[in-house]
Amino acid sequence: MRNPQLNRHGELQHLLTLDGLPRDILIGILDHAAPFTEVAEREVKKLPLLRGKSIFNLFFENSTRTRTTFEIAAKRLTADVVNLNVSTSSTAKGESLLDTIDNLCAMHADMFVVRHAASGAPVLITQHLQATGRDHIHVINAGDGRHAHPTQGLLDMYTIRHYKHDFSNLVVAIVGDVLHSRVARSQIAALATLGVPEVRVIGPKTLLPTAIETMGVRTFNDMREGLRGVDVVMMLRLQNERMAGALLPTPQEYYKVWGLTPEKLALARPDAIVMHPGPLNRGIEIDSAVADGAQAVILPQVTFGIAVRMAVMSMLAGQ
Ligand code: CP
Repeated sequence: MRNPQLNRHGELQHLLTLDGLPRDILIGILDHAAPFTEVAEREVKKLPLLRGKSIFNLFFENSTRTRTTFEIAAKRLTADVVNLNVSTSSTAKGESLLDTIDNLCAMHADMFVVRHAASGAPVLITQHLQATGRDHIHVINAGDGRHAHPTQGLLDMYTIRHYKHDFSNLVVAIVGDVLHSRVARSQIAALATLGVPEVRVIGPKTLLPTAIETMGVRTFNDMREGLRGVDVVMMLRLQNERMAGALLPTPQEYYKVWGLTPEKLALARPDAIVMHPGPLNRGIEIDSAVADGAQAVILPQVTFGIAVRMAVMSMLAGQ
């Protein structure tokens, strides 16, 4: 069966997940993003690669970084960008997701960037476009439920490559609320594709998915043990909005055991980098001294996100 993200020539048609995305395409996106960092950093103002294209940002769930960097990326590629305000759109009157899509297609959309609380929403839209003969309209998953956040995973890989250069000798730790994290799933898939030899997943048992070892990771329920000697620490936000029931003690107790403090970070390699997808919960999963410290690359991640999203959109448009 054909990979639903690729067209019949094996080129990227939609970006829905990093799970199963071929290695050459994943590396191709990272390579494609490199020259766009000059645009992201405003050394070059704009590139007209998406002139005349209409890109619709459909964010059915809150976002600061992803929505804004997609908008910046599209504008710097000179696309026409439409941000659908879901709270004032007809979704609030009960219009279905696919009816909304049909109406936006009638406005001649070229690309949808979709964030949705329901896992699978971008896949559903893609299947609908395929079934109705509109597969030329590209779909980018900007985060769906617990399922996937592929552009976040890609910008994280870009950041690791920028600071560490080579994936083949790294030990990477992913720490915190893995259970509810689409970011962690995309990171694990990408790290495996890129051949990272050791990926550790660190967190309380209640916040680690059962059988996560089948994804090729080592699990640790002791943060100090898990952080020992790692090259990259990827912290995760506690996703209270997705938690059903009491999976945790108080935030203060969580911080005491699972918060990344300078003392715990000292167990990692001295040149380890600290990453976080944002938004940060300071004093819960990360101490301000670490978040603002010399090893943190959290804000460069955001800037790289512009370049990576420019790369994805321009590749989808065949540029
Ligand atoms: N990392 C991330 O997805 O952040 P936003 O929710 O602000 O987009």
